[in-house]
Amino acid sequence: MCGIVGYIGNENIKEVLVDGLRELEYRGYDSAGIAVLQDDEIHSYKAVGKLKNLEEKTKNFTPHTLGMGIGHTRWATHGKPTEINAHPHLGEFSYVVHNGIIENYQELKKELQAQGVKFLSQTDTEVIVHLFEQNYKLLKDPMKAFEATVERLQGAYAVLLMTKVDADRIYFAKNGSPMIVGNDQNGDIYFGSSDAALIGKASEVIYLDDGDYGYTSIKEGITLFSDGKEKELNKKALVGDRVSAQKGGFRFFMEKEIYEQSEVLADTVMGRALDEKIAFEELDPNFFDGIEDITICACGTSYNSGLACSYLFERQAKIRTSVEIASEFRYKDPLLNPKTLFVVISQSGETADTLEALKMARDAGLKTLAICNVDNSSIVRISDYTLLTRAGIEKGVASTKAFATQVMVMWMLSLYIAQHKKTMTQEQIKAEIEAIRHIPQAVKVNDKLHEKVKRLSKRYLHGHGFFFIGRDLFYPLALEGALKLKEISYLHAEGYPAGEMKHGPIALADSNLFTIALMPKNIHYDKVKSNVEELSARDATILAISPERFELADDYVHTYYSDHAMSEFFEMMVVTQLLALEISVRLGNDVDMPRNLAKSVTVE
Ligand code: AGP
Repeated sequence: MCGIVGYIGNENIKEVLVDGLRELEYRGYDSAGIAVLQDDEIHSYKAVGKLKNLEEKTKNFTPHTLGMGIGHTRWATHGKPTEINAHPHLGEFSYVVHNGIIENYQELKKELQAQGVKFLSQTDTEVIVHLFEQNYKLLKDPMKAFEATVERLQGAYAVLLMTKVDADRIYFAKNGSPMIVGNDQNGDIYFGSSDAALIGKASEVIYLDDGDYGYTSIKEGITLFSDGKEKELNKKALVGDRVSAQKGGFRFFMEKEIYEQSEVLADTVMGRALDEKIAFEELDPNFFDGIEDITICACGTSYNSGLACSYLFERQAKIRTSVEIASEFRYKDPLLNPKTLFVVISQSGETADTLEALKMARDAGLKTLAICNVDNSSIVRISDYTLLTRAGIEKGVASTKAFATQVMVMWMLSLYIAQHKKTMTQEQIKAEIEAIRHIPQAVKVNDKLHEKVKRLSKRYLHGHGFFFIGRDLFYPLALEGALKLKEISYLHAEGYPAGEMKHGPIALADSNLFTIALMPKNIHYDKVKSNVEELSARDATILAISPERFELADDYVHTYYSDHAMSEFFEMMVVTQLLALEISVRLGNDVDMPRNLAKSVTVE
């Protein structure tokens, strides 16, 4: 969620940095800062809130001539969104900005404190700058000191470091968090945690690999190392067109957002899925005291994610959970119990029905919690508590990464409540955390899978409709798969609980009825299998998505992550998203802006 920029050159450094940060604003942040090193002086400015606050603070600062600077937008993970915790972080003579999470920062902090180092912030990042300076004091060589620092860091990081003891260079390192370095025709050097920050500035760029580190200066250009050896620079031209660059080379925003899920899910769990427990700094320790049950209320995709997670709340946290469609809830004269926790889910935070339902619950004295992607949105402002999903801006009208991150937040929330209510053992919680940390891998789209779905899609363009079927958690996933497909293909699609087909819908079964069967290994495989057999016996055309080959299926997409139901859930989610996308593309529809739909429904 955080953003990084860096620059060495002759332009107005402050403007280049703030401009770059503006391009990264879509990632979401709660504070920002820059540091400029010029004529052996470091000028640093930080501000809580939006970039305009930082601009206000820097309005009287005009950098001149050649120099360099680093900048950052921070999404609080360790420590509150305060100026002290904002980046860049200062040592005695160096500044650092960092994205990611330093998992061993406690251990490093203790070591440094034992050496007399004083810490100002509560962040994990601050250890980097102090560790570098301690190493420099020993080694007297900034590059060696930087190398020794990077060697000690565990976790995910993209780091930029400037130091007065080597005032021509910016040092950088990348592992697990994205970082790009590039240059323009004049040799000016730019850094960004996404290419959006470099578009229109750098003409060629290097997308750094995990384990890369090095330094840059105007005189030396970019010097890159990996595993202690200098590495060749693999420079690529940077597309000049901002919109297509924002799509990152993908055909559609929706496609980009499907591919981004791995990265954003890693952001969603960052600082929350710790080794031994789930932590939400946003919630008070006594948050669940007195709560008897949960009502979840939302619309569309957000409703589907809520429905999926209601299974987790009941199964893991042993708390009675009901799920309501906001437009229905508003007018049903609901009986509201002040001991109910009222959870609203919304990507935009502006959906009129959800907002009104939230106001009703608030007015009836219920404790309210928003699961939302947009900070400062109306829903966030009204709710007592908020857990941000950290999906970044979602541009495709058909929601993908917002759904994935909502499910992830609520999965963690169910464990958080389970911890509080002691409905799961420490071992069980740890096993769940392991599964959570595995999800960014499970949702990675591999080329073979995408190619397979692309090829399959040509057989699913006609017919008289689709049934997506599943059981348990996979029933809401079926609802979501069907919603995705209908939104962008304009084909009729329905999600159904697999066991419910024989109570009516099976009457529609014939060879022109397409059934997308979600057949996970971990939940009721045999039961879903017999439901699919019933459909197959009526000649329905079946696409099975499963780790287990199903002989009666006409088509089959093989999934891999069968060790945990949630891994299967997320992996199958990606398959259904790709299927909707590819069918829509073949039908020639506008994938990102489907007819009749708006991204945010702010009217009734
Ligand atoms: C999903 O693909 C949708 N376009 C739609 O159903 C959406 O989820 C719904 O309108 C709710 O929006 P919200 O999450 O912003 O509240």
